[in-house]
Amino acid sequence: MDEAVKATWDGLKALPKPALKDLFAADGGRVARLSVKLDLPGGGILFDWSKTHLDAAHLDGFLRLAEAVGFAERREALFAGDIVNPSEGRAAEHTAQRGMGKEESVGEAAALHARMHMLTAAIHQGALGEVRHLIHIGIGGSALGPALAVDALVRANDNGGRALVDVHIVSNIDGCALEAAFAACDPAATLIAVASKTFTTTETMTNAASALAWLRENGVSDPYGRVVALTAAPEKAVEWGVDETRILPFAESVGGRYSLWSSIGFPIALALGWPDFAEFLDGAAAMDAHFRDTDGLDNLPLRAAFADQYYTRLRGCQTRAVFAYDERLRLLPDYLQQLEMESNGKSVTAGGKPLGGPSAPITWGGVGTDAQHAVFQLLHQGTNLVPVDFIAAIASGDSLDPAHHRTLLANCFAQGAALMAGRADADGARAYPGDRPSATILLDELNPATLGALIAFHEHRTFANAVLIGINPFDQFGVELGKEIARQIAKGEAAFDASTEALLAAAGIS
Ligand code: F6P
Repeated sequence: MDEAVKATWDGLKALPKPALKDLFAADGGRVARLSVKLDLPGGGILFDWSKTHLDAAHLDGFLRLAEAVGFAERREALFAGDIVNPSEGRAAEHTAQRGMGKEESVGEAAALHARMHMLTAAIHQGALGEVRHLIHIGIGGSALGPALAVDALVRANDNGGRALVDVHIVSNIDGCALEAAFAACDPAATLIAVASKTFTTTETMTNAASALAWLRENGVSDPYGRVVALTAAPEKAVEWGVDETRILPFAESVGGRYSLWSSIGFPIALALGWPDFAEFLDGAAAMDAHFRDTDGLDNLPLRAAFADQYYTRLRGCQTRAVFAYDERLRLLPDYLQQLEMESNGKSVTAGGKPLGGPSAPITWGGVGTDAQHAVFQLLHQGTNLVPVDFIAAIASGDSLDPAHHRTLLANCFAQGAALMAGRADADGARAYPGDRPSATILLDELNPATLGALIAFHEHRTFANAVLIGINPFDQFGVELGKEIARQIAKGEAAFDASTEALLAAAGIS
């Protein structure tokens, strides 16, 4: 680690760590400074980081760290389309999909979006015959984003809260997943989207082949004619049998877990209509502009990363939890798990040196209020310190008695207050230690633009965290070894440890 960077970390580690109640008592302006509302295309989003332990000294120390690690230069490199993924020699141009980045890449993304728009419009107009269902086959970044966005936004769709085309996202190689989608779809009115950046992923290609067989077995004479390919490897899709007119390519420089803005977002556009997809991109672009153009503490993803580093590196927290107090965002924790853990779960720096400290915490979470009745016991009284993010929307997504939404929000805010305040009791079993941190992200309303901004906020927060600890967030070699061993098992060509051999024998696979 660079000497200046090490000295800054050492300085941060040596700072006193006042309790939250003392921070509030000492500073009447704390909420005004650490709770900030951004006005964005779809409405405001309030980012309240006042219930974290960030104080003036830590903020100052982290700002010095950002300077020492060259945060501004790294950010510029990201938006310039420079190589920011050195291990694979690639740029990371997801922002170009939103119109923010290198001119050439923005132009290419716009042209590919126009192609995607044309195909979705043609499908809506019946060019491919009757299409009532879409089975979207992909995994990881080729599934989690579309699943989140469609699930989150469909209720507010102009089409009376119903998708224009009913979408089933299938990722698992477990045939039960695909069979569940088959059971819900009429083969004569079903389109299959094969979503894979590489067009080689075993799960996706196996599921795609089975989907074709299902169409064929159910009387569809030209199953390939019902396939749309979403990929950065169009030549592989052609080789596999998809007609070029139904291939929606995207750039190689868009990482899998950052790809829902590209043609991987096809189910979003097909289910919700192009205007919603365009608003989704616009919301993300507004967050891009905030992240790119705001310096210092006012930069909200960077500020959130400061708090993340405070808990991971200075307080030893091994996990962070995200609770969406909004049923529409129930898939957000799953999405963030891949974004954060696949990006920053590394042991070496971008330069290949040992990291010398913890990398990403484990991201986990759930939906409020359900989680309160399941896992919050540990948050309030357990021995782990878990920084929590609460995410909620002021406008309700339902049309029932407003008591539902009022109670939902009251519970969300109550949990943050309780975690921080705690309560003394002579009986240890009934005592709450308190001083437990949380951040709250409060949307005016959940719509395509605010969802886009919320996801882009997390992308930039993840990037900022990576820069602060010197990680390359854009590769994921850690997923390869297991895939390789699975291939060896499939071929029956290698010998493994005694436990694995015994398991294979027990399952009759060896
Ligand atoms: O195995 C991990 C991974 O490469 C993810 O990064 C990616 O999102 C997922 O697999 C799917 O990859 P593809 O889109 O190439 O099928």
